[in-house]
Amino acid sequence: MLLRSAEETTGFMKILVVAGARPNFMKIASIIGAIQSHNQSAPHPIDYILVHTGQHYDEQMSRTFFKDLAIPKPHFDLEVGSSSHASQTAEIMKRFEPVLLKERPDVVLVVGDVNSTVACSLVASKVTYPQLERSERTRPLIAHVEAGLRSYDRSMPEEINRIVTDAIADLLFVTEQEAKENLIREGVGEEKIQFVGNTMVDTLLKHRHAAQESEILSRLGLKTNSQSSSERNRGYGVVTLHRPSNVDDADTFRQIVEALATVANELPLYFPVHPRTMKRIEESGLEGFFTFVSAQAEVAPRARTIHCLEPLGYLDFLCLMSNAKLVLTDSGGIQEETTVLGVPCVTLRRNTERPVTILQGTNVLGGTRKEDIIHHALNKLNQRIEKPRRPNFWDGQAGKRIVEFLSQRLSG
Ligand code: UD1
Repeated sequence: MLLRSAEETTGFMKILVVAGARPNFMKIASIIGAIQSHNQSAPHPIDYILVHTGQHYDEQMSRTFFKDLAIPKPHFDLEVGSSSHASQTAEIMKRFEPVLLKERPDVVLVVGDVNSTVACSLVASKVTYPQLERSERTRPLIAHVEAGLRSYDRSMPEEINRIVTDAIADLLFVTEQEAKENLIREGVGEEKIQFVGNTMVDTLLKHRHAAQESEILSRLGLKTNSQSSSERNRGYGVVTLHRPSNVDDADTFRQIVEALATVANELPLYFPVHPRTMKRIEESGLEGFFTFVSAQAEVAPRARTIHCLEPLGYLDFLCLMSNAKLVLTDSGGIQEETTVLGVPCVTLRRNTERPVTILQGTNVLGGTRKEDIIHHALNKLNQRIEKPRRPNFWDGQAGKRIVEFLSQRLSG
């Protein structure tokens, strides 16, 4: 479980960073990068411990992101794997508590809204450190990055995770103004809330030029060798789909798949399929709607169909998404990423916890009914290409703001 020893404690502050599932990795990459930069110049270095809960564990959902984003090997991998929400959350809590008691960090920093986020926050909120020399602290401060987002749909497991984590966190770092207002409406004191921007966007801005070197477009036959890498080739759309409410409900899943098949008649679609969704495709007998291709091998391009691919690494997916004419998704992070990239996005949900992507970005809610999705997708296709938008503080500096704030707060 322990993968590498924590360096000798020398810093004035110790931050334990938690990551568990795919969308967490882009967020912690920015924060760890900011700690490393801080340590190069600041008189007081910050010690950090990286804990991977193992909620996502395989090559395509986890390890490839560590490679693409140069995230250091975790100090601890709790190897919890997949199971029901209750068992997974409980297992993370059981395995996290001894790590916390051994390391006794000043801050436990959690990101996003996955089960690992809420599980580690709950442990940190109730732990009691034995009183030792290092600090007066009896438990760590809990810092939640991406706090305050609300879909107001409590059937989403992520919404429960967000509400519970925010209720027990001591420091709430928000990505947009609306999130701050949600927290204030819930009675959170303003002194706990910091508007710092978006760490996922930090990582996107850092890697978007490198991503253009990805060979994914050539491998899928979407770019010929004669085209320069800067030349945009927007003759396809990208799909992602994994929300339980969309893929576990047979009727909703069929409506979405039929809508995608109609859109694919206008624009070939490329669909890196999440493991949960792959299981549903196999169980639902909807395979006939899809063409299964491998992104590792050269394939015939641009058939008017939905091309299913295995999940992609960060740089390959960023390249595919940033050159697309349209994205259809039920992901939270992709609504934000398409905003910054200026790629039209239809969100396959009836609500979003990220309203700034609609108010200031390129996103529209397409719902989950066949006719609505087709209507919104064709509408977006007929619009001219959108300009990239930058909501406030989505400027590549969010990780730095978080680390500077923590450093000042703890030294004070
Ligand atoms: C989780 C998060 C969700 C996030 C998503 C990103 C929660 C409640 N949900 O949902 O917020 O948007 O991750 O992907 O935390 N599996 C693999 N390999 C892996 C991981 C999972 O094959 O490395 C399979 C599992 O067997 C499982 C399925 O994928 O059947 C779903 O994984 P799970 O982590 O339970 O939830 P997600 O749907 O991925």
